[in-house]
Amino acid sequence: MTARTLLPELPAYAALAEHAKTLASASLEGLFAADNTRARAFTVSAAGLHLDYSKHRVNAQALSSLLQLAEQAGLGQRIEDLFNGAHVNNTEDRPALHTLLRASDGGAQQLRFQEVVAAKARMREIAERLHCGGHTGYSGSTITDVVNIGIGGSDLGPRLVTQALKPFHGQVQCHYVSNVDPADLLDTLAQLNPASTAFIICSKSFRTEETLANGLAARAWMLAAGASTADLDKHFLAVTTNLPAAREFGIPAANCLPMWDWVGGRYSVWSAVGLSCAIAVGWERFAQFLAGAEAMDRHFRGSEAHTNMPLLMSLLEIWYSLFFHASNHVVLPYDHSLQRFPDYLQQLTMESNGKRVSSDGRELQYQTAPVLWGSAGTMGQHSFHQLLHQGTRLCPVDFILPLTTHTGAVEQHRMLVANCLAQSRTLMVGRSLEKARAALLQRGFDDDNAATLAPHLVMPGNRPSSIITMESLNPGTLGALLALYEHRTYCSGQLWRINSFDQWGVELGKEISTDILARLAGASDGSTMDASTEGLISAFRDAQR
Ligand code: F6P
Repeated sequence: MTARTLLPELPAYAALAEHAKTLASASLEGLFAADNTRARAFTVSAAGLHLDYSKHRVNAQALSSLLQLAEQAGLGQRIEDLFNGAHVNNTEDRPALHTLLRASDGGAQQLRFQEVVAAKARMREIAERLHCGGHTGYSGSTITDVVNIGIGGSDLGPRLVTQALKPFHGQVQCHYVSNVDPADLLDTLAQLNPASTAFIICSKSFRTEETLANGLAARAWMLAAGASTADLDKHFLAVTTNLPAAREFGIPAANCLPMWDWVGGRYSVWSAVGLSCAIAVGWERFAQFLAGAEAMDRHFRGSEAHTNMPLLMSLLEIWYSLFFHASNHVVLPYDHSLQRFPDYLQQLTMESNGKRVSSDGRELQYQTAPVLWGSAGTMGQHSFHQLLHQGTRLCPVDFILPLTTHTGAVEQHRMLVANCLAQSRTLMVGRSLEKARAALLQRGFDDDNAATLAPHLVMPGNRPSSIITMESLNPGTLGALLALYEHRTYCSGQLWRINSFDQWGVELGKEISTDILARLAGASDGSTMDASTEGLISAFRDAQR
């Protein structure tokens, strides 16, 4: 492949470095005071979501240079490449066509699209049967509980979506087991009756140790409860690209739903990997979830750069990481049902863009994906927000805020909204030394004590945040939200010049773990590891005696 120009070599880069110098010391409040159209001008809408990015350290000039950077990087063509099935995953020589999973027409991808349509028809049939209580187990009992066993992309997406759409759940309860720690499965099974429980073994590769270990344990639990091997077909489904491995496990092809190598695990909730969600909320809601994502896809592909929400969010990520050395990014959903959103985004952004070489193998001299973390608001306000307000690191924040609540508890929801808006504003305005001293004097401190304490109350402010609002969190807006972050991740990967669709960095740990597992079980081929690991292996073995 031809080498692509790296960001610092693009003409807009130098202009951006100059803008960054000016804006590093500019006051955000000052920017608002100087331009009474700022809030409106720095807000864009798409697919039921509204992004207000006016509390960022950007002005019209910096924004224009960022948009030029995107243009000079050829981002318009890269977006087309994604949708057109170009091999954007160059190290694995394949496309990344997750958008096809939610497309209502297949365009140039007719063959693949027909496979998706056929898979969705099967998925729908299974989801509707289970959702309506029309599936019975080995004893004739209705299946009331479904356990999705998977990890990474085969867990985080469906787990998030099921939890976020709780108000839309039917009678079937969906549970998620991912950790190889046996406690995860055992805690889940303790609440369940084998006769009315079904399992979905969700694994693109069907080679993932954690998932296979939990799947085998679930199978043993079912058999121990009195089911025969033949009965297992009523209780086990699989979602995978690897039919032979599923068959070897004991799940026949008739019980398997497909995945494709052109869909990355962390982009797969739109496929049959989302089966558990479709069972939980019913097919109609699941289709609305897909439609919300498709609406965001259309916006992303069809909008001009200056109104393109995923692109703008990506440019802000690039801006802070390249020019302000921001190594963190914080996501705070002010909606309890989105509490797993940061976990989901960690895999999406850090497995995609946590890379140190360009897609053509050159070592990069700049920072790539920041560390992403967060939690549901308001919990963080009573723990880590201290660092956001007064710590030494710059941590841009995304607040996610549905404007209405499904709970009916309107007044308490109003408190939640007030907290969200207050946090965003507080990050921006901060508190000067002067104001800190005045506040202390007003509280009754004398001059000396007020002067001593005041520096501790100072909050530098000018800390950037976005607010993404939506009228309500529903299947459509949730689909749009996830697609928004997928596309933001893609744009950032393209700008950093990395391949967002491979994950070679997870391989070596798996290999070493296999060797260590053999050693923990007592095997020895005579080779040794470092003294620390050897000591810990011995400690484990001693503890088993
Ligand atoms: O080890 C990382 C990873 O391959 C992720 O990319 C993936 O989502 C997860 O493991 C699960 O993989 P699978 O669906 O093949 O079990």
